[in-house]
Amino acid sequence: MRTSEYYEVIKKEYMDRTPISRLAFEKAKKYLAGGETRTVSYYSPYPLTIESGKGTTIIDVDGNRYYDFINNYTSLIHGHANEKITHAIINAAERGTAVPAGIEEQVKLAELLAMRVPCVDTVRFCNSGTEATLFATRAAKVFTEKNGIVKIFGGYHGTTDMMEYNVSPASVDYDDPANNLIPKPDIRGVSNKIASEMYVIPFNDCQTATEVITENHDDIAAVIVEPFLGAGGVIPAKKEFLQTLRDLCNKYGCILIYDEVQALRLSEGGAQKLYGVIPDIAAFGKIIGGGLPVGALGGRRDIMDVFNATGISPVTQSGTFNGNRATMAAGYATLMQYKQADCDRLEKLGIMLKDNIDAAFAKSGIDGCATRAGSLLNYHFIKGEPNNYLEVTKEDKSLCKIMHLEMLKRGFFIAPRGLIALSTPMTEEIIGDFTSAFADSLEVIAGLL
Ligand SMILES: Cc1ncc(COP(=O)(O)O)c(C=O)c1O
Repeated sequence: MRTSEYYEVIKKEYMDRTPISRLAFEKAKKYLAGGETRTVSYYSPYPLTIESGKGTTIIDVDGNRYYDFINNYTSLIHGHANEKITHAIINAAERGTAVPAGIEEQVKLAELLAMRVPCVDTVRFCNSGTEATLFATRAAKVFTEKNGIVKIFGGYHGTTDMMEYNVSPASVDYDDPANNLIPKPDIRGVSNKIASEMYVIPFNDCQTATEVITENHDDIAAVIVEPFLGAGGVIPAKKEFLQTLRDLCNKYGCILIYDEVQALRLSEGGAQKLYGVIPDIAAFGKIIGGGLPVGALGGRRDIMDVFNATGISPVTQSGTFNGNRATMAAGYATLMQYKQADCDRLEKLGIMLKDNIDAAFAKSGIDGCATRAGSLLNYHFIKGEPNNYLEVTKEDKSLCKIMHLEMLKRGFFIAPRGLIALSTPMTEEIIGDFTSAFADSLEVIAGLL
């Protein structure tokens, strides 16, 4: 059977197993544009409707149970409905979730970030990682009095116009890879007028970074980079690459911004502490909200002071729910249960899972591997580990789609693109179960090739 035929078979099995989810999606289509409200969560034939989650497990409306290996796209470091976080949220709700004034919980969470994360002197909260990267780049523009932003090809930093450039274009050029670096919006509706302010470089490519930044430094306010390319395939940065960016930013008066929205989970002090290459500002999100909407930026006091309301010409950074009590309390309860020993334990599980996935690929005879950054992984149906986004795009997406449905069938909820995010309640046993399911799924795929 060909892969396209088999996909129809496994899709039918999915539909037979999830009739109530199917009906729920039909109803949702009446009131939600497209039947859902978050592009990344959609997959064909329809996404599951989830009834509840506890710890490592979620249950759909048909009663199927899954180990959750996405954890809301990396944001639930302690899995679902962690008791201390739940209590913190209830307690906050009882005292009023939001006020247009200061609350102590904001200072507590900011202090914790400042104590742990090397670049952080001061913090501003917002409501999403998207806002965090927006405000970080804005602070850099004001501070440097320049406008240009350097980003990475395949780097995802949220959904502002600027950040929707060269993330995952519909087509890429393998013959002349330089064409992939011409700044272009990926999606309709994003302004192409800001192309002149954008510079795009490939991940882990010191030479191109040096050339682009050296040539354009008069215009460049900031370089924004994730210390591992997350949505672009969980590809760790080479230390040399981050150091090159650091040195160039020092030399030319540009601001180095790390997007630690996903990377903070890599160590108590984020990826920057792990690498020992410290940015000027970092953007945060995901785990620091304990499962509630959140974003934050933190960094050098002098740069962050562009937002200081008592300054000469302060930059406004408003948001009705910035630093609301529920999010602050949930975030604090989360981080207080996520210390270095917890990061280390999760890292060990991550290493174990990567080794197991690599071994399963080798045994199956299919070209493939897992890439890993701490407790985040991505499997790829390609030969050898990718070093940048262009290499990731060479993968056969139809195999990913089959793997996704095969894993759901076996009770493992993963991202269709192969992203895996571990959580602290996971054990070696659960990693072992995932591995068996993965190996069995590969065996099915091997039979199709
Ligand atoms: C690295 C990175 N930056 C920014 C964002 C945007 O965060 P949010 O979805 O909270 O706007 C994400 C979201 O996945 C992300 O992974």
